[in-house]
Amino acid sequence: MTFFKKTIRDLPLQGETVVVRVDYNVPLTDDGEISDDLRIKASLPTIKYLLARGCKVVLLSHLGRPDGKEKKYSLEPIAARLSTLLAKEVVFVDDTVGDTVYQAVRRAPKKSVLLLENLRYYPEEEADSHAFAKAIVKSTRAKYFVQDGFGAVHRAHASTHAITLFLPSVAGLLVEREYTTISHAMHTPKHPLVAVMGGAKVSDKIAVIEKFVPKADTILIGGAMANTFLAYRGLKVGSSKYEPDQAEVLDRLYAVVAEKVGQSHVDDFLVLPSDVAVASSIDTHHTRSNRSVQHIHDSDIALDIGNESIERYSAIIAHARTVVWNGTLGYAELPEFAHGSARVALTLATHPQTVSIIGGGDTADFALKWDGGEGASFTHVSTGGGASLDLMAGKTLPGVESLLDA
Ligand code: ADP
Ligand code: 3PG
Ligand code: MG
Repeated sequence: MTFFKKTIRDLPLQGETVVVRVDYNVPLTDDGEISDDLRIKASLPTIKYLLARGCKVVLLSHLGRPDGKEKKYSLEPIAARLSTLLAKEVVFVDDTVGDTVYQAVRRAPKKSVLLLENLRYYPEEEADSHAFAKAIVKSTRAKYFVQDGFGAVHRAHASTHAITLFLPSVAGLLVEREYTTISHAMHTPKHPLVAVMGGAKVSDKIAVIEKFVPKADTILIGGAMANTFLAYRGLKVGSSKYEPDQAEVLDRLYAVVAEKVGQSHVDDFLVLPSDVAVASSIDTHHTRSNRSVQHIHDSDIALDIGNESIERYSAIIAHARTVVWNGTLGYAELPEFAHGSARVALTLATHPQTVSIIGGGDTADFALKWDGGEGASFTHVSTGGGASLDLMAGKTLPGVESLLDA
């Protein structure tokens, strides 16, 4: 599938200064350690491509949602990790615009990498300020802008939108790969296409679930979201997490499903767990007990799909040719309640001919930890949370739309 935007491959880059928006909004531990560097690793191909063409590479990113210049959201530790991964010096510049930036970029030789301080230290970033974007361009004297922060392209901010008004702007290799892989799976999938939807809330994911109804052959529901479906269907969910106010949304969803597959096949298409794994509280000392969904006790907290459901979901996934997975099937932070999610991962890993696309922050995190590497067990593990969901749901992504057309 060809990408509809220009990319770095379309530019005469030789020796130019290039500003690259990356998404280094990585999870940090309480001690400020980087707990997952997928997003940093994913930015390397574009940086290396630009360095190989003699460019001066000026990186821009946000980190977290700081309230002013909070030290704990500084990108300085990220510069150190990037330097290790690149095996090359990365100059950290402790401002995002102004003379400090100007001097640092001017002094840096060609083929060097600079990382500017957190964009969100300036409220102008999220306000999509033209003046702020212009100031970045002026301080760096860049010739081109490259968008490679896939995780942030669903935002219309100064570094994803306004800056494209002032520089010729193209996609980096990560944005191109994410966009084409995910949209290809959505538009021309190999069938059977199975969508595995879990996670915390129906309200977060309903737009994507609805989008999958016409395309998918089966939709498997898990996670706390499954509790919302079960409660809607009149079952008792005990003390489980669920959303009691989704009746209208689910009425609509079931109506669309019934129209597609006929009333009598609704439950084969939109599959709910027949059993769940429960505990009486969420702590590390509880073991899972299996309950049929008809017999959930008042004190039970459903934290995973049950053993029978795991077998059933796994069998359906084993027969798929494309699987799109978004949202863990249980409280996967605790190994005891990660069985459902782990079995999905295992089934995908043992069917390498199946196209598997994994999206969502927690789901990608789980899949990578399960994989123990960079996600080689799957076709594609997205670096985007909201961005991948929006793309799957067919929403336009401001950070991609604003780039030059191919
Ligand atoms: P993603 O970040 O991949 O989009 P979500 O944030 O929607 O996924 O869902 C993951 C979260 O849902 C995790 O924090 C997980 O603990 C929680 N979760 C999944 N199943 C349950 C459950 N049965 N009860 C409570 N929380 C759950
Ligand atoms: C993400 O982690 O989803 C992106 O980096 C965007 O961050 P945001 O939700 O704070 O805009
Ligand atoms: Mg999440």
